[in-house]
Amino acid sequence: MAGMEVLVVGSGGREHALALGLSQSDSVSSVHCTPGNAGTSMVATNHGILVSDIEGIVSLAKQLMVSLVVVGPEAPLVNGLSDRLRQESIPSFGPHSEGALLEGSKTYAKTIMESLGVPTGRFERIDEIDSIEASLESFEPPWVIKRDVLAGGKGVTVTSSRKDAHEALRNGVETDGFVLMEEHLSGEEASVLVIMDESGYVMLPASQDHKRVGNNDEGPNTGGMGAYAPAPVVTPSVLARTREEIVEPMHHHLRNSEIPYRGCLYVGLMIDEDGAPSVVEFNVRLGDPEAQVTIPLFQSDLGLVLLAAAQGNLADIDVEFKKVHAATVVLASEGYPGDVFSGRLIEGWDATIEEGQVLGFVHLAGANRKDSGELISTGGRVLSATGIAPTLGEALEASYQIIGGIELEGSHYREDIGFRALP
Ligand code: AMP
Ligand code: GLY
Repeated sequence: MAGMEVLVVGSGGREHALALGLSQSDSVSSVHCTPGNAGTSMVATNHGILVSDIEGIVSLAKQLMVSLVVVGPEAPLVNGLSDRLRQESIPSFGPHSEGALLEGSKTYAKTIMESLGVPTGRFERIDEIDSIEASLESFEPPWVIKRDVLAGGKGVTVTSSRKDAHEALRNGVETDGFVLMEEHLSGEEASVLVIMDESGYVMLPASQDHKRVGNNDEGPNTGGMGAYAPAPVVTPSVLARTREEIVEPMHHHLRNSEIPYRGCLYVGLMIDEDGAPSVVEFNVRLGDPEAQVTIPLFQSDLGLVLLAAAQGNLADIDVEFKKVHAATVVLASEGYPGDVFSGRLIEGWDATIEEGQVLGFVHLAGANRKDSGELISTGGRVLSATGIAPTLGEALEASYQIIGGIELEGSHYREDIGFRALP
């Protein structure tokens, strides 16, 4: 069969990883990306349509006559991109807008989980400033406060300070009209990405993100500062419980929905001391930076797997993964996760490592090329340095060797990615 043309939607490190993985798939002849970044431009043709322009993306997909659209971020899914593509008979990897509510509305996700008996923390919705104190009483500290908006992982406050908790609750009510308080879950976090359609599902090797900005998990939450896979905290027994208690009931529910779910369900887990998994959050897409460490693990042809899920044929194919380890370390702009300094020159980003079975290279994210060829920072998370190797230690070493050679004024990265999995 002639290779397919695929369109990837988005502009982060995840989309660079997707475009790279697809460009290496035998089933794919060419990759397009919109709007893409400097990284995707090295393996795909970038187009100028922004992710907010749903009709523009549909027109582009028709004009390019692509066989598959792979949607990276959540916002276009919540805004109905997959619904529109399917109306035009274009296979789309990514759920329809109702499925996307699992990420778009935490209240919706919690209600579904409660109705299915999927383990997750108790929650309460707070609409009035006057009820804040009573709600603070009804939960133990540390308090977990979440705005029910798409906030890229930054709409959550976890604090043991009653004053800060009160303030976060009040800000939420004042800004959005309501806010959620949730039972604090303790343990270790992991991400299990599940590719699913109505015919079946495939759990990708578990990964672990590092959400806090600083070493030792200090400082505010971010979109993610680094990741590795496979994550040993997801032991065979944790994996079995995750499958039985979370993935099976969710798949049963989603496959029987009026419009079946076709895409990735990202299960954000908290695993307690006894190995019991609970859901911290669902996302309706691959994680970023989790994608950068799971896509390179595909042994099977990525294009065929994503196409199968987009067409509802996933059960017909075998999906296999390489027995290697991957790590990625995010380089963030000065100021991230707050207001960032952009437009700065990035140097040394194009170094690679290829020594035996050890690979190292950069996934670009908030970075664009000037006409002169110079690479300039354009966002909070600028790039991540990725290592692939027979052991996690070697993968991390490759990542750190690459990131250590990159210069970007004021930038910062975590020096302890993978610490939970190392001896
Ligand atoms: P979310 O946006 O729901 O993914 O939350 C972002 C991060 O906040 C999570 O990855 C956790 O580190 C933390 N978090 C969220 N909910 C809880 C919870 N119920 N208990 C403990 N930590 C949480
Ligand atoms: N890395 C967390 C996320 O993609 O939501």
